[in-house]
Amino acid sequence: MPAGEQLPVIPRPVTAERLGGSAFTLAPDARVSVAGPGAGEVAALLVAELASDCRRDLAIVHEPPAYGDIAIVIAPDETPDDERAEGYSLSITAEGVRIGAATAAGAFWGVQTLRQLVPVECASDPLTIEPLSIRDHPRYAYRGAMLDVARHFFAPDDVKRFIDAIVLLKVNHLHLHLTDDQGWRIHIESWPNLTAHGASTGSDGSDGGFYTQDEFRDLVAYAAERHVTIVPELDMPGHTNAALASYPELNASGVAPELYTGAKVGFSTLLVDDDTTDRFIDDVVREVAALTPGPYLHIGGDECLSTSADDFLRFIARASAIVAAHGKTPAGWHEMGKSAELPDGTVGQYWDFVTPRGSAADETLSFVRQGGSIIMSPADVAYLDIVYEEGDRLGQDWADGPTGIRESFVWDPARIVPGLGDAHILGVEAPVWTETLATIEDVEEMVFPRLAAVAEVAWSPAPADTEPVESERDFDDFAPRLAALGAHWAAGGTNFRRVPEISWRESVRV
Ligand code: ACM
Repeated sequence: MPAGEQLPVIPRPVTAERLGGSAFTLAPDARVSVAGPGAGEVAALLVAELASDCRRDLAIVHEPPAYGDIAIVIAPDETPDDERAEGYSLSITAEGVRIGAATAAGAFWGVQTLRQLVPVECASDPLTIEPLSIRDHPRYAYRGAMLDVARHFFAPDDVKRFIDAIVLLKVNHLHLHLTDDQGWRIHIESWPNLTAHGASTGSDGSDGGFYTQDEFRDLVAYAAERHVTIVPELDMPGHTNAALASYPELNASGVAPELYTGAKVGFSTLLVDDDTTDRFIDDVVREVAALTPGPYLHIGGDECLSTSADDFLRFIARASAIVAAHGKTPAGWHEMGKSAELPDGTVGQYWDFVTPRGSAADETLSFVRQGGSIIMSPADVAYLDIVYEEGDRLGQDWADGPTGIRESFVWDPARIVPGLGDAHILGVEAPVWTETLATIEDVEEMVFPRLAAVAEVAWSPAPADTEPVESERDFDDFAPRLAALGAHWAAGGTNFRRVPEISWRESVRV
């Protein structure tokens, strides 16, 4: 990489400096030296990546580094206090590589930066990296991706593959949209027909499927090893046809509807002020809360077009109180902000556009007024199932589509809802809805490269506080870094869309 070019890292680090001097070369006998709590686990993941990507076999040692080793050091004084949760430093010199962090999460994100700096040809050529020094920490604590496993079901191995791909971008939350009209995807012991019947199909008549509780626990653990928190969503009271089809007693008529495999929204609702519905909510929330070590349990609340306004308010007050009673922080789409009875700290997820329409901004601020915080997912830039170009084979175009890579990059979370700044923004999330996406390769084609843009918005420092934001987020700086990342995706087998705005390196070995 010629001097003066940006370091090929996404999200862009807070500070990065080229040091001059000789490059680091990974010798065959190099080791990974670890010190501090959790360093061994982080090192094991790095060693596994270097084995699969570069065919290098490194030993992990609990002793000080020797010349040419990679050191991972976890200790409280490795980062300033306010960067402790996930910050890290990375230095690369001829003497060795050193990652320092106060937490295992910080060290893990340092490893992701290192992976992007390792040349793609590392299996055949000597593995050398130019000398540099990076200090880095995230702007937002919550950096998310959402996978809709309800419309099309994705098996546990697909979800693990997705987790592997998102961590390279320092995304640390995976929101799983587990239930919708088209399918119920998590087994509930106390309501077994939700999966016996309600999981048996999916969008377009696809096969369906569901996670057993053991499979879900295993996914949660796999994610946690990679410093990713799973956020389960049980979408209620709308988007519930699969549940209504599984239990007649959840319906006003006492008759279960047919399973649904189309793409309409807004036609289903749970009953409100009903003992059976209340028992249902309590049971499903209790079981999912017990499977979820993370703090959040998402209860949807979006597009309830068949629930009366009064019923909606009563439902949201009841359901969010049940989530809190089971020890979780409720989260929900911004419509839940219509309620003035949200438990303290409830998290709202904004999914209107970068220019708010209707009551979306007010509903969003309602969470803040009630002591909560906000995840920003503006649909016209951060919904990754929206087509890249008119006529695409995959995706939908309702959210002001098409959405190109530049649009996904040039926006700022703190400049959308007037009065909502970083103090109350928990973070940023990019959802991918799967009505048209049947395979994990389809999902990846929609998610990558746009998730790289959204991940940089979520991690990297805010652009200078001047208008307009377009002149501050430098797409010309981002584009070559994205081309470099594409080479890693190609080498690692992650599918991605070769969007025409980027000069992809097609010579890369695949
Ligand atoms: C949504 O896109 N209905 C949250």
